[in-house]
Amino acid sequence: MTAEPITNSIQFLLNGQPASIENAGTQTTLLDVLRDYGLTGAKEGCAEGECGACMVLDVAAREGGCRYQAINSCLMLAPMAGGREIYTVEALAENGELAEAQRAMAAAGGSQCGYCTPGFVVSLFAEQYRPERTGSCDPHALAGNLCRCTGYRPIGDAARSLGAPPPGYFRDRLSQPPQPLLNFNYQSDGQQFERPTTLARCLSIAAEDPQVRWIAGATDLGVESNLRFRRWPHLVSLEAVPDLREFSDTAEYVGIGGALPLTDIALQWQNAPGIFGQWLPLFASPPLRNSATLGGNLATASPIGDGAPMLLALDASVRLTSARAARTIPLTSFFTGYRHSVLEPGELIVAIEIPKPLPAYSRFYKVAKRRMDDISTVAAGFAADLDLNGRVTRARFAFGGVAATPLRIYAAEEAILGERWNKATIKRVQSALENALNPIGDHRGSAEYRREIANSLIEKFCWEYQEAAA
Ligand SMILES: Cc1cc2nc3c(=O)[nH]c(=O)nc-3n(C[C@H](O)[C@H](O)[C@H](O)COP(=O)(O)OP(=O)(O)OC[C@H]3O[C@@H](n4cnc5c(N)ncnc54)[C@H](O)[C@@H]3O)c2cc1C
Ligand code: FES
Ligand code: FES
Repeated sequence: MTAEPITNSIQFLLNGQPASIENAGTQTTLLDVLRDYGLTGAKEGCAEGECGACMVLDVAAREGGCRYQAINSCLMLAPMAGGREIYTVEALAENGELAEAQRAMAAAGGSQCGYCTPGFVVSLFAEQYRPERTGSCDPHALAGNLCRCTGYRPIGDAARSLGAPPPGYFRDRLSQPPQPLLNFNYQSDGQQFERPTTLARCLSIAAEDPQVRWIAGATDLGVESNLRFRRWPHLVSLEAVPDLREFSDTAEYVGIGGALPLTDIALQWQNAPGIFGQWLPLFASPPLRNSATLGGNLATASPIGDGAPMLLALDASVRLTSARAARTIPLTSFFTGYRHSVLEPGELIVAIEIPKPLPAYSRFYKVAKRRMDDISTVAAGFAADLDLNGRVTRARFAFGGVAATPLRIYAAEEAILGERWNKATIKRVQSALENALNPIGDHRGSAEYRREIANSLIEKFCWEYQEAAA
């Protein structure tokens, strides 16, 4: 378990050709690197994963080959590109012929000033070549790309006009897996970025250097770096550690690796409960979900992180490990205060475990200023089981955005146990909520507003459950 030799060179495949970048800062973005390379199709709009102007394609593994996934190059740190295969908009035309995604955008009048267009084209390209897709392209796949001047109808028309990918290099490429990510130990200007391939090596690095900062999808850290100028002297990437990217679905539990991106979870979790299917599309945008992980989401301990209410409703536990010890704790005990958790320095979220049987009925609700791609004002994960007489045998009511931490409201759960849902019992649950919630008021919503939302979501859950059970 020795350290990989240190290098100051980032080698990767760029538009099908080997590329090498020397001495880039560990927190330089891939976007900056590409633009310095003369590939200026990808642009900076926001530098925080919101606009999609910086979109590029990353080649990701899938069973039997690979897939192209759109990612925000403004959030990928340059060393994260080491060993990857990246395509930019400049490479999509083949043999002098525009790609169908490019032609469709032009034909539908999907571009005016053109600032956003390369990003839209890249996302549309990824959607057209998505292996599981049938029929025409889904305009929802373009969420995460913003356009200020054209309007989305012609862009949606461009998407709907595209069907199966045409024969050629990019279609043939899909049948080959990408190169696996290898050990990588990069240093530049006294800053270090390591990407080990074993859990043991991650832990020994952290034992030697208590300053290490784990980095998974970088969708939080990238924003901290770009907009708040946070700097970390020693980053340790979790992306190449198989133990952290496992998914298992057994008779006893569902296990989700802490560093498994959300898109991969969705691809692997056959028969996921309703709550997961409702939660996923409300979490950021497709390119963010291609990188973001549940480990990263929980580790931030944000009171408005969306992962926690969904996982609390499923009674999840987190498997943690450090060089000193391993432990599994219920997620209900994980958050200790505003943006604080039980995680100790050098400790990792290895996996999230969801016990079986899964609840018979579960729902996720997210109330935000915008319906899609926005930060929650209040998020709720609810789950319940009824007996044959319609009495509640198990209830879990979890919230984000109503206190300093995500939490379950046990008093409200107890108020409905053994009861049928009706107006009187809903009132009882609501008054238990009333006593337990302690919302923070901010620019997204006053404390009173959050309380009202929590009350009405419980009622909504009850009526929706009854409708589903009828
Ligand atoms: C545009 C945009 C939209 C977003 N929308 C949403 C949304 O709708 N809902 C939502 O909840 N969040 C949202 N986020 C926040 C972010 O995407 C999530 O919190 C994401 O899950 C973080 O995962 P990551 O892998 O990118 O974490 P990273 O950025 O890599 O890491 C985040 C933190 O977690 C630590 N960490 C990472 N993995 C582990 C691990 N396995 N063990 C211990 N510590 C670890 C890191 O050290 C770091 O402190 C959004 C972010 C952006 C930029
Ligand atoms: S620059 Fe806006 S998402 Fe990257
Ligand atoms: S065409 Fe101008 S921002 Fe989209």
